Amino acid sequence: MKALLLFLLLGTPLGVKAESETPPLTQQLWSFSGMRGTFDRGALQRSLQVCKEVCSACHSLKRVRFRELQALGFSAEDIKTFAQSYEITDGPNNEGEMFTRAGLPSDAFPNPFKNDQASRAGNHGALPPDLSLIVKARAGGADYIYALLTSYSSPPRGIKLGENMSYNPYFPGHQIAMAPPFVVDQVTYADGTPATVDQMARDVTTFLAWTAEPESETRKAMGW
Ligand code: HEC
Repeated sequence: MKALLLFLLLGTPLGVKAESETPPLTQQLWSFSGMRGTFDRGALQRSLQVCKEVCSACHSLKRVRFRELQALGFSAEDIKTFAQSYEITDGPNNEGEMFTRAGLPSDAFPNPFKNDQASRAGNHGALPPDLSLIVKARAGGADYIYALLTSYSSPPRGIKLGENMSYNPYFPGHQIAMAPPFVVDQVTYADGTPATVDQMARDVTTFLAWTAEPESETRKAMGW
């Protein structure tokens, strides 16, 4: 609903003021904000689904090892199964060749592409950044990531998009090479939560806030 409203606001000439301004970021209520904040476990577990089924197609999370997901409430067995669902390039073997194998808990989320060149080739020349620290790397942090993921719209009148670019008022320059990553019900949440664009964006942002600063909560306690 909110996404639709935003779309209507931004997509019609009425909602657009001057040429193409960056709207101020809305401060969201995050479970992890503040001194005593903790990460919402439900959101973290759902977010793993979003990450795997959506973002992992283009982005790596190379600083996050599968076994660290234990901090999110997953059992060792769950993590083993989850890790196995990823294909890892390893090697070289005794013949000097690289090979692929199923993921292990000690592996990090792999890059879906062989290298940056392949990554650009698969994304019309743009490089999907590693997401491990993205929340810390961008001004506005979680609020920015959430706004980015939920604010795609058609461009205001008079703005011509480059080839393969999408309009997003929060991205610097307002044209982004990442197509809108979500449609409603893109994932089917294991816990039955309706997968609205807003929900998926909130959940995955919570996850990325955790990957950027896991030590702000449990990692320290668990001795990593
Ligand atoms: C089809 C490929 C693709 C998918 C799927 C995808 N992205 Fe991206 N993403 C990109 C590309 C390409 C860029 C670089 C955009 C640019 O530089 O214009 C990018 C950039 C980003 C950025 C950086 C924006 C900035 O300020 O620099 C974030 C954050 C991001 N993606 C998050 C996500 C999340 C979260 C998901 C999953 C919900 C996701 N992406 C899914 C391709 C993808």
